[in-house]
Amino acid sequence: MNKILEFIEYVEQIKEESLSLFLDKILIKLRKATESEAGTIYILRKKRKTWLEPVSIQNDKMPLSHSGFNIDINGPAIASYVAVSGKYVLIDDVYTLQNDLPYRFNPSYDQESGYKSKSVMAFPLSTFEGKTIGVVQLINRRLKGVKSPIPFESGQLKFISAVNHIIGRAIERIDAHEKMALKKKELEKKNRLLEKQRKIITEQQQETEQAFKISIELLAKAAELHDEVTGNHIVRVNEYSYVLAQEYGMPKEFCDEIRYCAQLHDVGKMSVNSAILKKQQQLNPEERAEMNLHTYYGYKILIQSDRLKMAADIAYCHHEKWDGTGYPRHLKGNEIPLSARIVQLADIYDALRSERPYKKGYTHTEAMDILLKGDDRIDPKGHFDSDLLKILERCHEKFNYIWIALTDK
Ligand SMILES: [Fe+2]
Repeated sequence: MNKILEFIEYVEQIKEESLSLFLDKILIKLRKATESEAGTIYILRKKRKTWLEPVSIQNDKMPLSHSGFNIDINGPAIASYVAVSGKYVLIDDVYTLQNDLPYRFNPSYDQESGYKSKSVMAFPLSTFEGKTIGVVQLINRRLKGVKSPIPFESGQLKFISAVNHIIGRAIERIDAHEKMALKKKELEKKNRLLEKQRKIITEQQQETEQAFKISIELLAKAAELHDEVTGNHIVRVNEYSYVLAQEYGMPKEFCDEIRYCAQLHDVGKMSVNSAILKKQQQLNPEERAEMNLHTYYGYKILIQSDRLKMAADIAYCHHEKWDGTGYPRHLKGNEIPLSARIVQLADIYDALRSERPYKKGYTHTEAMDILLKGDDRIDPKGHFDSDLLKILERCHEKFNYIWIALTDK
């Protein structure tokens, strides 16, 4: 009884370690208790087929040259019979088995290793519910001083019966723990893979985004070639617009968008007759009407892309005026998209600062004076959004910094 209690205590104190390590310890204990020279513990595995996997193999007389064979549960092996029937088997000599028995001894391990099996004790490992989860096969009971192996005794099975379920419960616990750890590992691996793919997609998106921005910069530059306005004008208009949008309190997405859309405001000039664009003298009414159409042409070019909806609005509406005296549609006040009202102010500030064949470039103070107080061409109250004008008055120095930083050499 002491031997049984001691064994149970031993099993209970084993913590969650690997199943094979646990079964190695159990097999040593079982062999010691039954005086067996060798043994194997098989665990029942089930996928599409069911088989017995040798998880622990020990042999005091032979160095183990291989990790054993998986055994088909439906085969004739002793362990298969024990697993299927749930019965104990005691064999005095495996080489003298009767032919009418429901199992047979497979001599291939002996033949390969040169070992000689004789007496065998095999029994199933079961859970508390009586479900078989493995098989223990002990080989060659050998007493000290006795030369050849002797048979196991049925009395030894009492010990086995007493401790069997304890082992079964521990196997279930460790096996479940191992499976969970394996699943966790697989999940971590999947997560790492997902993270890697996410990173690649982000990089690709960034590359696409960069390519998109380069394309519209090139489009804006191509449009400039038809116009008298060249140099950094479009880059500066981007930056003034960005500052105004930020100061107006618009969300980051709006500010980022206007920063690349603003430069496309005059893209429609590509469709205007270049003789009109380059004419130094005043345009006649027909020529003026054709020139004014650059807003509509720009809109038609840009509206084709979902990403350029704001740019299309800007192109169409950047010559509209707050009081409805602008073109091409004479929109009034808030009918004019905010993006276009912003770019209008940015565009005019930059035009005032720039030198043209017919005019000098104004200083920042002069330009601000015209925008805030007006002149013979500009009527701030009638032309601009008064809120934007107030913002410009507040942050006008930033406009001057942009002009200086991006001035044409
Ligand atoms: Fe324009």
